[in-house]
This record gives sequence, structure tokens and C-alpha cells, in this order.
Amino acid sequence: MISRDEILANLERYDLKKAKIGVVGSHSGLDTCDGATSEGFHTVAICQDGREKTFNNYFRTQRDASGKAYRGCVDETIILPKFANILDANVQEKLINDNILFVPNRSFVSYCGIDRVENDFKVPMVGSRNLLRSEERGDERDYYWILEKANLPAPKKVERPEDIDGLTIIKVHHKQKKLERGFFTAKDYDQFVEKSTELIKTGVLEENFLESARMEQYIIGPVFNLDFFYSPLEEKGEKLELLGIDWRFESSLDGYCRLPGKQQVELENDGILPEYTVCGHNAATLRESLLDKAFALAEKYVAATKKYYAPGIIGPFCLQTCVDKDLNFYIYDVAPRIGGGTNIHMAVGHPYGNALYRQEMSTGRRLAMEIRRGIEEERMDELVS
Ligand SMILES: Nc1ncnc2c1ncn2[C@@H]1O[C@H](COP(=O)(O)OP(=O)(O)O)[C@@H](O)[C@H]1O
Ligand SMILES: [Mg+2]
Repeated sequence: MISRDEILANLERYDLKKAKIGVVGSHSGLDTCDGATSEGFHTVAICQDGREKTFNNYFRTQRDASGKAYRGCVDETIILPKFANILDANVQEKLINDNILFVPNRSFVSYCGIDRVENDFKVPMVGSRNLLRSEERGDERDYYWILEKANLPAPKKVERPEDIDGLTIIKVHHKQKKLERGFFTAKDYDQFVEKSTELIKTGVLEENFLESARMEQYIIGPVFNLDFFYSPLEEKGEKLELLGIDWRFESSLDGYCRLPGKQQVELENDGILPEYTVCGHNAATLRESLLDKAFALAEKYVAATKKYYAPGIIGPFCLQTCVDKDLNFYIYDVAPRIGGGTNIHMAVGHPYGNALYRQEMSTGRRLAMEIRRGIEEERMDELVS
């Protein structure tokens, strides 16, 4: 892993008065650019050829003579053959020379690969570089490991298919859509065999899918992705903030759920099982009595990251949770960076973020605000890695 000292040395080269905010144009890139624009930054989206139009054309910034943006939120794009070309020496050099503070999102890590993000990407990133690996399910010190260390509630792990006793979710990569999910559920071993055989036949699962599968108790209850922010710079108020809550639209699961039960069973009998491909997000709030619990989970997570992943979480992170019938939270995934659903906060903010800041506060804007403060207080070294 590139040492923090090396990154700080690169930061030394920056003229922070001219700092721009850069992000991979995908995932939550728009929220990042929108928030940065609201906070008066110039934005740069790094795009992949053929997937650039949203950033390069449709949300392109226009500014008036005084430099105020009156349309769009993407000032500049860098269009590369592949997202992974961001690692090319000349591209990195350009980002550094242009004083770009880079905001990592899941697309950045997925397309570049965690090894290269850790070892080869020399641009100062706002957030915790060392924590990004915790998202790689199955790694030694992945987020499950952190949850266990922090004594946080997670769905119970099922070791072997033969042990399935009650509704279980089996998490595997999709065979053809490499970055998507080939998830399915089973209530016992027989159903596991039946469904996995069907999914292998229809090209969703690899024959040897079990080698990389994660199996766990299926929590029956709503999904709340808790979009938190941890501010290393805040001194008067709490350092932990809940900005917003999102949940996902997943295809084909959502279409399945909107059918009468009898037709769901018929589909299943025909071997048509729902898939879990994320295709949109919506906003949610929690009943108030659950808020204390939500903050307590996040405080424990923050403390564990400080202890085991020093300096710990910096900026946005997302606890992906389900709530069961007794109002217990279960954390089934943790994103140690800006969440994938924060576009729901974009421009309008979110009830929680807005209530805290008395103005529209999205995750993207909150990030940019922290960067602005880091620059003004000459504390940017506390925000990058
Ligand atoms: N233990 C669980 N119980 C119930 N639903 C779950 C559980 N784990 C995951 N899910 C569902 O699967 C979706 C994706 O799960 P997640 O673990 O976040 O995978 P990924 O990070 O690959 O998207 C969630 O949005 C949620 O709907
Ligand atoms: Mg997830």
C-alpha cells in the first residue's frame, strides 16, 4: 500500500487555492460533482469512452462571467478508453498537476482493482484508502471481520449448504454480468440444490460458484442504507452525522414482488428466479426510536476502524442494514466510502442532512464542505490518504 506519507508529499505539490474535485464518472459521481459545485469547486469527471454522455454532455457546467454555475455540475471530463486507464502514469500526473482531490467510489475500485488502488494510485484521495479493501468479500479482514471485532449485529453466517436451516441468502457473482449479483435464496439444502442447478443451467452461476459464495441468514424486513459522514475536523458538534437513508430498486426482484403471489410461484416453477441487479434508489426515513440505535451502530463502526484501520474512516460511509420484526438492525454490508444510493440526496439534500445544516445537504455537498474546511484550516492532510 502506498504510504500516507507519500500521498501527503504529493499533496504538498498542490496549490489548494486552485483545488478541483475529481471523481470517476459512474456510481455516485453526479452527487459528488453536484455537491462540489454547490460548494464552489470546479469539478472533473473521469469517464470511459462510450459511457461519457451523462457527464460530458447532459450535466456539463455553464458558468456566468463571475464564475457562478447556472447550469450543470461537471466542468471538465477526461475521457479514457477504459476506466482503469486512470492508473496510467500520464493520467495520474495530470490529476496531480491539476490539483485534483479525488473522491473514490465503488466504480473506481471495481474497475481498477483493489491492488492497484492501494499500490499504484498516487493521487490524494479524500477518504481512507486502507479501508477500501474491507469491501472485498472473503478477504481476511473484510467488513464481516470489522463487524465481529466491533460486536455489531450481522446476519448469521451459514458455513455449508448442508447446514441451511431457515431462509438463507446465497451471495455470489453473476457468471455473465461480472460486476453484478447472482444472488438467490433457499430455505433448506434440497432447495439450495434445486435452485443452484437451475441457475447454473440458465447461465447465472458458475459451476464452482460455491467456492466464493457467502451464505447468511436472510433477514425478513425492510432495507435501510444508512448514509453517514464522519468528520475528522469537527470540534464543537458531534463528528458523526447521519445525512440520509436510501434503499434500492433491484431488477428483476422488484417486478417479481409486484405480481400476485400465485404468479410468483408459477414463475419460480418455470425456473425464472428473481435477480438482484441494482437499477435505482429511493429515499427513506426511520422511525425516531430507531435513530439512537442507528447512531450507536455507526459509532461502534467508527471506533473499530480507528482501532484496526488507523486512522479510521474519513468522510462518508454507508451501513447497509435490514430491520427485523422486533426492530433489531442487522448490518449485511458496509461501504467505507460514498454510498451508491446518494444521488437521491442530490441538489435537494435529505431530511436528516438538511435538518442538521439548515440548508440542502447531500452527501456530495457534505464532502465538498469538509474539503473546503480542510483547505481553509490547512488540515487537508487529515482528510486524504
Ligand atoms: N442478510 C440479508 N437479508 C436480507 N436481504 C439481504 C441480506 N443481504 C443482502 N440482502 C439484499 O441483497 C441486496 C444486496 O446485498 P449486498 O450484500 O449489499 O450485495 P452487494 O454489495 O453486492 O450489492 C440488498 O440490497 C438486500 O436487498
Ligand atoms: Mg451492498
